[in-house]
Amino acid sequence: MTSKYSVFVKFGSNRELSKLELSSLLEKINLKEVSFQEWKQVLLLKLSEYETGRFFNQLKTTGSIVKAGILEFEENIQREKEWKSKLRKLLNETIQRVSAKKKNQLKISISIQSVSNEITTNIHKTVQRTIKNLSADLDLPIKIPKLKNELYEQTPFQYQKENMWRRGFEVTGFVIKSKIFFGITKWVTNPLDDIKQDEGRKVRFFTHGTSIKLARSLVYLSQIRKGETLLDPFCGTGTILLEGLKQSVKVIGIDNDPKCYRASKENLNQFTFQFPSKEKMKEKWIVYKQDSRQLKRVVNDKIGAVVTEPYLGPFLTELPEKDVARNIMKELEKLYTSVLRASKESLRDKAKVVMIIPEYQYSNDLTIRPNVENIAGNSSLDLENVSRFFSVKLPLEIGRTHNIIGRRLAIFRNSIP
Ligand SMILES: C[S@@+](CC[C@H](N)C(=O)[O-])C[C@H]1O[C@@H](n2cnc3c(N)ncnc32)[C@H](O)[C@@H]1O
Repeated sequence: MTSKYSVFVKFGSNRELSKLELSSLLEKINLKEVSFQEWKQVLLLKLSEYETGRFFNQLKTTGSIVKAGILEFEENIQREKEWKSKLRKLLNETIQRVSAKKKNQLKISISIQSVSNEITTNIHKTVQRTIKNLSADLDLPIKIPKLKNELYEQTPFQYQKENMWRRGFEVTGFVIKSKIFFGITKWVTNPLDDIKQDEGRKVRFFTHGTSIKLARSLVYLSQIRKGETLLDPFCGTGTILLEGLKQSVKVIGIDNDPKCYRASKENLNQFTFQFPSKEKMKEKWIVYKQDSRQLKRVVNDKIGAVVTEPYLGPFLTELPEKDVARNIMKELEKLYTSVLRASKESLRDKAKVVMIIPEYQYSNDLTIRPNVENIAGNSSLDLENVSRFFSVKLPLEIGRTHNIIGRRLAIFRNSIP
């Protein structure tokens, strides 16, 4: 069975962030160019078999991609007899392969997307019927997990809760223009792990914390290499540092607030103690209590990336007067510039700085934020304007925290002349 594309990817709620991560992923596996088609929250890609293997290995370290799988065939939607027969063949082969390894009843979830509810429901019914017939023909009990509505697909939470990995598989179909595509989901993000990690943390501050998923995206986008050192000069409770450790890099955290300094240390300590090789793990991180503008005093290592959600200004419940807003953002611009300038000397060539920039939005035409071009210019870093693949514009909007501060993700790059 063949398709023009080999892999499908489903994005999270921030499509542009997922595309940015995907662009980083393709760079990481050394792709020079790629054929792709984008449709709604889905992207189809053409990868070789070797690239496909490397692609799936990377996914667990990304933060915003939701699902991905292998595309098995595409067919013209009008050629109903042909696609139904190919679908039966695909399901038959997959059921036989998967059921050989299962002791329990097999589960198959179905995810169909098209532009019309009527078409989606019809295809869903066809897939359901095919599964029921195969179940009878093969004399295998097969369960299709119930969802509130056939037009929905299992969320990653439901997928992991139902233990689909162990119990069966998900068949995925989309209709894009006149083509119908079918594939098998191969990877789904695991929110249960994030919930466990979040609830298990020794110290959490709800007003300071970066979400685990966002922290993972930021670390991934930094393209830091295994064994290098990541610096978070505003480390708070250490969420980014922890994601760094999980991605096998060494980490340095700095925070000037004694409460946050202790929180980061306790969280990293607790993480360290989960490892049999505690002593080795302990050598991989260090947290300093001090003002990051003077980070040169403590950072001697070469840094592979700076990744941070910095201080974003005072916690406000409503937008300040515009003059006040301009002053706050000017002060933040100065703070970020001095910290990046101080980091610059320790950065290796081509190292990236991935950081969140705050903004106050007054209307579609008026947003007040630090000037990223000035920050780049005054700290001798290059500002990235667009992603290598898929043309994602940067700095990228990533949504608000708990209060009225909007956030953008900016990427700077160090190039030593
Ligand atoms: C948004 S929080 C960081 C969130 C963090 N990524 C986390 O998940 O917990 C910003 C942190 O910057 C710290 N901070 C503010 N100004 C600083 C400075 N000049 N030097 C070092 N840390 C600073 C604050 O104490 C706060 O913990």
